[in-house]
Amino acid sequence: MKQKNMIMLNKYYGELCTQIYEKSKSIANGRELEFFLSFVQDKKMKVLEPMCGNGRMLIPFMEKGIDIEGFDISEEMLRVCKLKGQKLNLKPNVSYGKIEEFNGDKNYDLIMIPFGSFSLLPDELVKDSLNNMKTILKEGGKLLLTVMTNTGIVEEIPEWIETNRHYFGNNEIIEYKKVHYDQANKMLNTKLNYQLVKDDQIEKSEIMDFPIRLYESSEFENILKNNGFDEIILHEVINGYGEGSSFHVFECIK
Ligand SMILES: C[S@@+](CC[C@H](N)C(=O)[O-])C[C@H]1O[C@@H](n2cnc3c(N)ncnc32)[C@H](O)[C@@H]1O
Repeated sequence: MKQKNMIMLNKYYGELCTQIYEKSKSIANGRELEFFLSFVQDKKMKVLEPMCGNGRMLIPFMEKGIDIEGFDISEEMLRVCKLKGQKLNLKPNVSYGKIEEFNGDKNYDLIMIPFGSFSLLPDELVKDSLNNMKTILKEGGKLLLTVMTNTGIVEEIPEWIETNRHYFGNNEIIEYKKVHYDQANKMLNTKLNYQLVKDDQIEKSEIMDFPIRLYESSEFENILKNNGFDEIILHEVINGYGEGSSFHVFECIK
């Protein structure tokens, strides 16, 4: 394949990654959505979704008339979220923000971080991130957290391999992957390379370091306790991401 004038970028949730995410994970639905919605008993509740990305969860909440805000560090994900809202005559209240530095001036009844996003934070950012969320939770408010857990099966990919092809009209995005599991730090260090191909020519290449912290369930519960969340309920959402899948949610009550 030709590589004339190729632009190579090192980006976290950049344009190509966001395009693929939006194609396969545009809107939450089914049991997952039902589960998170079940915590909103009253439309007066104020909800925050840190790491909201493309609004996969935030937009269906808005469609139900829920007062929800979100923030994220990916300008591209936020752009897609706003655009998707616009198409539905909604104006998502989302902005740029890092969870580890977040110090908003409002208080919330419910804060939720679905889809294992909290696992994207390295250990050194966990304490500040949890503390920031605790500070802005109302007394009696709830923080719902999902993390990625170690299933005991980690597939290492030492050299780049092609893992997927996504078609967008005449364009194609080819995905390459490399994976190394750092057992000592329980980090699944994934590298992704997205290549945008037009007319058999690579136009753009986006490389993304994608480290994921894999937790043991009891380990994460202890982290929450050590960070001042004394009242924790662990839920299992059966068929959460579709038939045959399940995930856990930590409900932390302030
Ligand atoms: C897998 S996406 C999930 C988005 C959304 N939670 C969902 O359920 O679809 C993870 C998001 O976390 C964001 N993110 C990663 N680190 C962050 C940080 N330190 N502060 C805020 N957002 C962050 C990324 O930019 C990305 O949009």
